[in-house]
Amino acid sequence: MIKILFVCLGNICRSPMAEFVMKDLVEKENLASEFYIASAATSSEEIGNPVHHGTRNKLKEFGISTAGKCAVQLKKKDYENYDYILGMEQRNIAGIMRIVGSDPNKKIKRLLDYSPNPRDIADPWFTGDFEVTYNDVKEGCQAFLDAILKAEGFK
Ligand code: 4NP
Repeated sequence: MIKILFVCLGNICRSPMAEFVMKDLVEKENLASEFYIASAATSSEEIGNPVHHGTRNKLKEFGISTAGKCAVQLKKKDYENYDYILGMEQRNIAGIMRIVGSDPNKKIKRLLDYSPNPRDIADPWFTGDFEVTYNDVKEGCQAFLDAILKAEGFK
Protein backbone atom coordinates (compact mmCIF):
# COMPACT_ATOMS: atom_id res chain seq x y z
CA MET A 1 0.00 0.00 0.00
CA ILE A 2 1.39 3.37 -1.07
CA LYS A 3 0.29 6.15 1.29
CA ILE A 4 0.12 9.71 -0.02
CA LEU A 5 -0.79 12.89 1.85
CA PHE A 6 -1.38 16.14 -0.04
CA VAL A 7 -0.95 19.31 2.03
CA CYS A 8 -1.86 22.97 1.56
CA LEU A 9 -2.57 25.90 3.85
CA GLY A 10 -6.32 25.46 4.44
CA ASN A 11 -7.17 21.94 3.09
CA ILE A 12 -10.25 23.30 1.34
CA CYS A 13 -8.93 24.29 -2.14
CA ARG A 14 -5.69 22.78 -3.51
CA SER A 15 -4.86 19.71 -1.42
CA PRO A 16 -8.39 18.21 -1.60
CA MET A 17 -8.29 18.93 -5.35
CA ALA A 18 -5.04 16.93 -5.58
CA GLU A 19 -6.47 14.19 -3.33
CA PHE A 20 -9.52 13.58 -5.52
CA VAL A 21 -7.71 14.04 -8.86
CA MET A 22 -5.13 11.47 -7.71
CA LYS A 23 -7.84 9.04 -6.54
CA ASP A 24 -9.46 9.39 -9.99
CA LEU A 25 -6.14 8.71 -11.78
CA VAL A 26 -5.36 5.55 -9.76
CA GLU A 27 -8.94 4.30 -10.24
CA LYS A 28 -8.51 4.72 -14.00
CA GLU A 29 -5.28 2.65 -13.78
CA ASN A 30 -7.23 -0.02 -11.81
CA LEU A 31 -4.79 0.51 -8.94
CA ALA A 32 -7.09 2.06 -6.31
CA SER A 33 -6.56 -0.84 -3.88
CA GLU A 34 -2.79 -0.21 -3.92
CA PHE A 35 -3.12 3.36 -2.65
CA TYR A 36 -4.26 5.26 0.42
CA ILE A 37 -4.66 8.94 -0.47
CA ALA A 38 -5.66 11.83 1.81
CA SER A 39 -5.07 15.56 2.35
CA ALA A 40 -4.48 17.95 5.25
CA ALA A 41 -3.82 21.59 6.17
CA THR A 42 -0.83 23.24 7.79
CA SER A 43 -3.14 25.86 9.39
CA SER A 44 -6.03 25.32 11.79
CA GLU A 45 -8.14 27.97 10.00
CA GLU A 46 -10.59 25.72 8.12
CA ILE A 47 -10.67 22.55 10.26
CA GLY A 48 -14.02 20.76 9.84
CA ASN A 49 -15.07 22.80 6.82
CA PRO A 50 -16.13 21.20 3.52
CA VAL A 51 -14.22 21.56 0.24
CA HIS A 52 -14.41 25.08 -1.28
CA HIS A 53 -17.17 25.42 -3.90
CA GLY A 54 -14.58 26.55 -6.47
CA THR A 55 -12.75 23.22 -6.16
CA ARG A 56 -16.05 21.28 -5.99
CA ASN A 57 -17.38 22.92 -9.15
CA LYS A 58 -14.14 22.49 -11.10
CA LEU A 59 -13.92 18.77 -10.24
CA LYS A 60 -17.60 18.26 -11.05
CA GLU A 61 -16.75 19.22 -14.67
CA PHE A 62 -14.65 16.03 -14.77
CA GLY A 63 -17.16 13.84 -12.92
CA ILE A 64 -15.11 13.87 -9.71
CA SER A 65 -16.90 14.18 -6.35
CA THR A 66 -15.33 15.39 -3.08
CA ALA A 67 -18.31 14.23 -0.99
CA GLY A 68 -17.54 13.58 2.67
CA LYS A 69 -14.24 15.48 2.76
CA CYS A 70 -13.78 18.00 5.58
CA ALA A 71 -10.58 19.88 6.35
CA VAL A 72 -8.18 18.33 8.85
CA GLN A 73 -4.85 19.60 10.15
CA LEU A 74 -1.53 17.83 9.58
CA LYS A 75 -0.24 16.04 12.71
CA LYS A 76 3.36 15.22 13.64
CA LYS A 77 2.66 11.48 13.56
CA ASP A 78 1.42 11.72 9.94
CA TYR A 79 5.10 11.74 9.02
CA GLU A 80 5.37 8.07 10.03
CA ASN A 81 2.02 7.11 8.49
CA TYR A 82 2.65 8.33 4.92
CA ASP A 83 5.21 7.47 2.24
CA TYR A 84 4.84 10.74 0.33
CA ILE A 85 3.88 14.13 1.82
CA LEU A 86 3.36 16.65 -0.97
CA GLY A 87 2.88 20.38 -0.49
CA MET A 88 1.46 22.68 -3.13
CA GLU A 89 3.98 25.53 -2.74
CA GLN A 90 7.24 26.31 -0.97
CA ARG A 91 5.41 28.01 1.88
CA ASN A 92 3.55 24.73 2.57
CA ILE A 93 6.89 22.90 2.82
CA ALA A 94 7.93 25.32 5.57
CA GLY A 95 4.55 24.78 7.29
CA ILE A 96 4.88 20.98 7.05
CA MET A 97 8.41 21.11 8.47
CA ARG A 98 7.19 23.24 11.39
CA ILE A 99 4.73 20.48 12.31
CA VAL A 100 6.73 17.30 11.60
CA GLY A 101 10.14 18.65 12.70
CA SER A 102 12.45 16.95 10.19
CA ASP A 103 12.41 14.88 7.00
CA PRO A 104 14.96 12.07 7.44
CA ASN A 105 13.27 9.89 4.81
CA LYS A 106 12.95 12.65 2.17
CA LYS A 107 9.16 12.20 1.97
CA ILE A 108 8.35 15.90 1.71
CA LYS A 109 8.24 17.57 -1.71
CA ARG A 110 6.16 20.00 -3.73
CA LEU A 111 3.71 18.26 -6.06
CA LEU A 112 5.14 20.05 -9.11
CA ASP A 113 8.69 18.99 -8.19
CA TYR A 114 7.65 15.85 -10.13
CA SER A 115 6.96 17.88 -13.28
CA PRO A 116 9.65 18.78 -15.84
CA ASN A 117 8.89 22.39 -14.86
CA PRO A 118 9.04 22.43 -11.01
CA ARG A 119 7.06 25.30 -9.48
CA ASP A 120 4.51 26.39 -6.88
CA ILE A 121 0.75 25.93 -7.35
CA ALA A 122 -1.02 29.26 -6.84
CA ASP A 123 -3.62 29.47 -4.08
CA PRO A 124 -7.08 30.00 -5.66
CA TRP A 125 -8.34 31.19 -2.26
CA PHE A 126 -6.40 34.35 -3.14
CA THR A 127 -6.34 34.26 -6.99
CA GLY A 128 -9.94 33.09 -7.54
CA ASP A 129 -8.62 31.10 -10.54
CA PHE A 130 -9.55 27.45 -10.02
CA GLU A 131 -8.89 26.67 -13.70
CA VAL A 132 -5.16 27.47 -13.51
CA THR A 133 -4.92 25.59 -10.20
CA TYR A 134 -6.72 22.55 -11.64
CA ASN A 135 -4.38 22.45 -14.66
CA ASP A 136 -1.34 22.59 -12.36
CA VAL A 137 -2.77 19.96 -9.97
CA LYS A 138 -3.59 17.63 -12.88
CA GLU A 139 -0.10 18.04 -14.38
CA GLY A 140 1.48 17.39 -10.98
CA CYS A 141 -0.65 14.34 -10.14
CA GLN A 142 -0.01 12.75 -13.55
CA ALA A 143 3.76 13.37 -13.32
CA PHE A 144 3.81 12.09 -9.73
CA LEU A 145 1.81 8.96 -10.63
CA ASP A 146 4.17 8.19 -13.54
CA ALA A 147 7.16 8.62 -11.19
CA ILE A 148 5.81 6.42 -8.39
CA LEU A 149 4.59 3.68 -10.73
CA LYS A 150 8.19 3.45 -11.94
CA ALA A 151 9.74 3.84 -8.47
CA GLU A 152 7.42 1.26 -6.87
CA GLY A 153 7.88 -1.24 -9.69
CA PHE A 154 4.43 -1.10 -11.33
CA LYS A 155 5.90 -0.07 -14.70
P1 4NP B 1 -5.89 26.18 0.28
O1 4NP B 1 -6.52 27.66 0.23
O2 4NP B 1 -4.62 26.27 1.10
O3 4NP B 1 -5.59 25.85 -1.16
O4 4NP B 1 -6.95 25.29 0.89
C1 4NP B 1 -6.77 28.40 1.41
C2 4NP B 1 -7.96 28.23 2.07
C3 4NP B 1 -8.23 28.95 3.23
C4 4NP B 1 -7.30 29.86 3.70
C5 4NP B 1 -6.11 30.03 3.03
C6 4NP B 1 -5.83 29.30 1.88
N1 4NP B 1 -7.57 30.64 4.86
O5 4NP B 1 -6.77 31.51 5.21
O6 4NP B 1 -8.60 30.39 5.53
